[in-house]
Amino acid sequence: MSDTHFGFSTVDDSAKAERVRGVFDSVAPKYDVMNDLMSLGLHRAWKAYAVAVARPRAGDRVLDLAGGTGDLARAFAKPVGASGLVVHTDINEAMLRQGRDRLLDEGIVLPTALCDAESLPFASDSFDLVSVAFGLRNMTHKDKALAEMARVLKNGGRLIVLEFSRVAAPLARAYDWYSFNVLPRIGQWVAGDGASYRYLAESIRVHPDQAALKAMMKSAGFGHVDVHNLNAGVVALHVGIKC
Ligand SMILES: C[S@@+](CC[C@H](N)C(=O)[O-])C[C@H]1O[C@@H](n2cnc3c(N)ncnc32)[C@H](O)[C@@H]1O
Repeated sequence: MSDTHFGFSTVDDSAKAERVRGVFDSVAPKYDVMNDLMSLGLHRAWKAYAVAVARPRAGDRVLDLAGGTGDLARAFAKPVGASGLVVHTDINEAMLRQGRDRLLDEGIVLPTALCDAESLPFASDSFDLVSVAFGLRNMTHKDKALAEMARVLKNGGRLIVLEFSRVAAPLARAYDWYSFNVLPRIGQWVAGDGASYRYLAESIRVHPDQAALKAMMKSAGFGHVDVHNLNAGVVALHVGIKC
């Protein structure tokens, strides 16, 4: 048995997934409104940027991991078109249901799979593009998940990882104040759950920074990795090519 982070707490490896499940079971119904409130709508621009950089093409096979309420899956659906495929996945049933229902309400029908990114039920070399937005941070064995992402990608395929990262030093104090004082209060007020949003703030601080994640992606089989800092590193987009 080994230990891992759950925010600032140290927990047994086997306990983390259960605790993360508790967070997303709790926040699923208010997840979208919370995203807009917490980021003042910026998460939409971060995701639009990620999709633009990913450049989905007609006919592409796309796998969206930790897809939650489906923002990226929805954005990929149109450009890949009828000749392509977007698979919307998550480990959490409440989040996946929320996303699936929302996409269906918008007339978007995608294959949906409940699955753990650390053990993917897909054939090797079967996708052109894999995406994971704000999901990697919550995974227990990030190296295992990245290796799975590399496995299911075709040679030359691309992985995009959109995730909170290390903010530029001059902004760190203000960002900490916002994260630990404001975020949990908004979470309590809107979702009735301040603790989950405190976990969010803590989990960002223990997540690998830009350079560490780039090194992890290289070790997992991405021969080329680019890093794009967004909003001074509040968020980073890592783009890996399997080569
Ligand atoms: C912050 S949400 C992100 C949802 C969506 N991608 C977005 O950007 O709005 C994180 C998601 O990661 C999922 N997740 C956590 N661990 C996972 C794992 N091991 N495999 C797949 N999904 C996981 C959670 O269930 C949750 O839906």
